[in-house]
Amino acid sequence: MSGSLVCVGLGMTLGAHITPICRSHIEQADVVFSLMSNGLVQLWLEEMHSDVRSLQEYYQEGKSRTISYDQMVSAIIFEIKAGKKVVGAFYGHPGVFAGVPHKTIQIAQQLGFSAYMEAGISAEDCLIADLGIDPGKVGCQQYEASQFMFYQRIIDPSAQLILWQIGVAGDKSLGKFATGVAYRQVLLDLLTTTYPLNHQVILYEAKVLPIDTVRKETILLSELIDAKLSMHTTLVIPPCQAMQKNTAILNKLAVIAQQEKDEYAQLENT
Ligand SMILES: C[S@@+](CC[C@H](N)C(=O)[O-])C[C@H]1O[C@@H](n2cnc3c(N)ncnc32)[C@H](O)[C@@H]1O
Repeated sequence: MSGSLVCVGLGMTLGAHITPICRSHIEQADVVFSLMSNGLVQLWLEEMHSDVRSLQEYYQEGKSRTISYDQMVSAIIFEIKAGKKVVGAFYGHPGVFAGVPHKTIQIAQQLGFSAYMEAGISAEDCLIADLGIDPGKVGCQQYEASQFMFYQRIIDPSAQLILWQIGVAGDKSLGKFATGVAYRQVLLDLLTTTYPLNHQVILYEAKVLPIDTVRKETILLSELIDAKLSMHTTLVIPPCQAMQKNTAILNKLAVIAQQEKDEYAQLENT
């Protein structure tokens, strides 16, 4: 079984985030499949290897992304089965909110081929740096925006809430490149069960080209309806409440701590 697959991440910003191990896999591949966020990033990748095949062509307005993803997986698996050393190069981190790399690796492994992933710098990593948000400070919930709408989720208003793919929020067809006001109104109705309309939220876009400026636009939640959103926008909703103490648990822990103290004191007295 000579075919193999490594899915690598190129990071978010052209030329700035690629790791030496990812670059090395690309340079040594027989064929590279790519899914890039930008045409210039694609050209930069093509300078690293002479056989780079873009998966972007499988996307079409009106065509379900489920079909596009299946076709991407099949194209990659075909070359692995042909015995090639295949690399899947994806912008950001290949495993973050990205189904194709996970699915292709799983199928290739089931077929008995070597297949694994190398980490990259994701939009979340850039967001943490650019917005100065530590996900460990008050906790952080993250959802794909449509999934957040389609399923009952329990929002923690004392934690950060990050919604990915906000530009296509609510699209059940999986075939749209953008959703409009009616869809956003439904999302807004959902969010305002927890957050006030005048709550400040952030529209975030990391740099794709080094000359880009980071978008960190603070708007009121109510302004989400008319906000300019793209396929690359991520919505950050800061907490609207302080963390509430769990006194029942704190009391149980206090009892344990007191028992430990008493046992220690007893040992010292014997
Ligand atoms: C299919 S996911 C891919 C995420 C990617 N694998 C990563 O590691 O960040 C696409 C979503 O990622 C986020 N995203 C992509 N590019 C971004 C950028 N330049 N700035 C902020 N968020 C971005 C958006 O929420 C977008 O809808």
